Amino acid sequence: MPDTGLTNSAIINAYMQRTPGSAVLHTRALGSLPSGIAHDSRWLKPWPLYVDRGEGAYKWDVDGNRVVDLFGGHGSHLLGHCPPAVVEATIAQMHKGSQFGAGHAMEIEWAALIQELVPCAERVRFTASGTEATHMAVRLARAFTGKHKVLRFHRHYHGWHDVMAFGVDNHFDGTPTPGVPEATAEGVRLLPPNDIAAVRALFEREGDFAAVILEPIGATTGLVPIGGEFLRALREVTREHGVLLIMDEVVTGFRLAPGGAQEARGVTADLCTMAKIVAGGMPGGAVAGRAEILEALDFDITAKKGREKIKHPGTYNANPVSAAAGTAMLKAVRDEDACGRANRAGDAMRSALNQVLASEDMPWAVYGEFSFFFLFTNPDGLDVNPLAFDATALPGAAFKPDPRKSLQQKIHLGMIVNGVDPMGHRGGILSAAHDAEAIGRTADALRATIRMLKAESEI
Ligand SMILES: Cc1ncc(COP(=O)(O)O)c(C=O)c1O
Repeated sequence: MPDTGLTNSAIINAYMQRTPGSAVLHTRALGSLPSGIAHDSRWLKPWPLYVDRGEGAYKWDVDGNRVVDLFGGHGSHLLGHCPPAVVEATIAQMHKGSQFGAGHAMEIEWAALIQELVPCAERVRFTASGTEATHMAVRLARAFTGKHKVLRFHRHYHGWHDVMAFGVDNHFDGTPTPGVPEATAEGVRLLPPNDIAAVRALFEREGDFAAVILEPIGATTGLVPIGGEFLRALREVTREHGVLLIMDEVVTGFRLAPGGAQEARGVTADLCTMAKIVAGGMPGGAVAGRAEILEALDFDITAKKGREKIKHPGTYNANPVSAAAGTAMLKAVRDEDACGRANRAGDAMRSALNQVLASEDMPWAVYGEFSFFFLFTNPDGLDVNPLAFDATALPGAAFKPDPRKSLQQKIHLGMIVNGVDPMGHRGGILSAAHDAEAIGRTADALRATIRMLKAESEI
C-alpha cells in the first residue's frame, strides 16, 4: 500500500476503507507514472481516486462508489458525462475512421459553428489541446505585431508550454521554472490582475508588447475574480498601445454563454483560445480571431504579401473524431440552452452550499459566477457571513491558497467520502446535467464534511 504519511484521522481512514481498488491501482501506477498520475491536479494523498465510468452528473470509482462529479472532465463536460448525441456522433465517426491525413467535411462545419458563436472568430485554426492553442496564439501575435513581449497575470493558467510555465503557482517574480530558458522568461511580464493603472504604466515604460493574455473572469476561471470593468479597460488600453488582446477561453468558451466570456462580458478579443467544450470532451483545441492575424497561417495570402508563413502542422489538428464530438456539442450549446442550464445549476449550488455554511456557523463562503463555485476557507480569519459574501470586495491576495495543507486535504477527502468528487478542495464546475438531486447531495456532503472536520478539531 502507498505510504499515507498520515495518521489519526477519521476522514483519511474512511477514504482508505472506501477506496481499496484505487490504492491497488495507485501502487501499480507508481511503478510507471511519476507520482502515479497523468495530470498534476490529480495528485492526492494517500492516493488519488481512480474512476471507472461516468454518466450525467455522476462518476463511479473502481470500487463501485458513485460520486457527484464536480470536476466535469477539467471543464469539458458542459452536458455531463456521455451525452447521447455526442457519444453517438463520436462512435459513428470511429466506424468511419479516426485519421485520414486529409481534410474532411466536418472540420468545416465545426469551424463554421465556432464562427457563428464566438464574437472574434473571423478565422479558426484547430490544435490538439488548449496548451497548443495558447502557444499558437502567442506566435500569431508576435508575427502580426512584429513585437516580442507577452503580458500575463499572476495565477492565470494558460497551459504548460514555456511562455506559460511560471507565475501560476509560484515564480511570481517572472523567473523560469525548471527546464524553461531564461531568455523565454525574459520575454514575459507578470502583473497582479485588476490593476489597469499598472498595465498602462508598464506599456508606457516598456515597449515591444505583442500581446496580453488572460483568463477572462479571473485566475482558475474566477477563483480570483476579475470583473467586466477590468476586462473592458484592458480592451481599451491594448488598443491604444497596439497590443493584441488574447482571451483564453479554454474553460469559459461555450460555457458562460454560447459566445463565451466575449459574449457574457461584451468584450471582443483580437484572438481567443479554446479547448475542452469545443471538442465535446475529446482532445482538441482551437485558436480563433481576426482574419488579418490568422492570415499568417495562409499559404496564398502570405505569398502574395511577401511574408513568411507560420508553419503549423499537427497530426491531431481537427481530428475527425474530435470534430464529430465537438460539432455535436456546439449544436447543443447553440440550440439547447446548455450554458443557461449549467449557469442556473451554478446559482442553485452556490446558494445551497452557503445555506449549509450558515447553518453550521462557519465563517466560510461559497462564491463564483456562471457554472463555477469556489469555497473560501478564510485563512486570515476575516469576518465572513456566507449569506452576504461579496468576493469582488476583497483584494486578490485574500484568495491565496489556504496554507493549512492538512485542512485542504481533508476537505477534498471528506467530500469524496461523502459522495462528491470536487475540483480539489476549492470548489467545482457544474454542467447542464447537475440537477436538484446532485446539488442536494453536494450540500449534504459539505455538511457531513464540516462535521467530520470539527470532530477531529481540524476547524
Ligand atoms: C484557461 C486554460 N487555458 C489553457 C489550458 C490548457 O489546456 P489543455 O489542458 O487542453 O492543454 C487550460 C487547462 O485547464 C485552462 O484552464
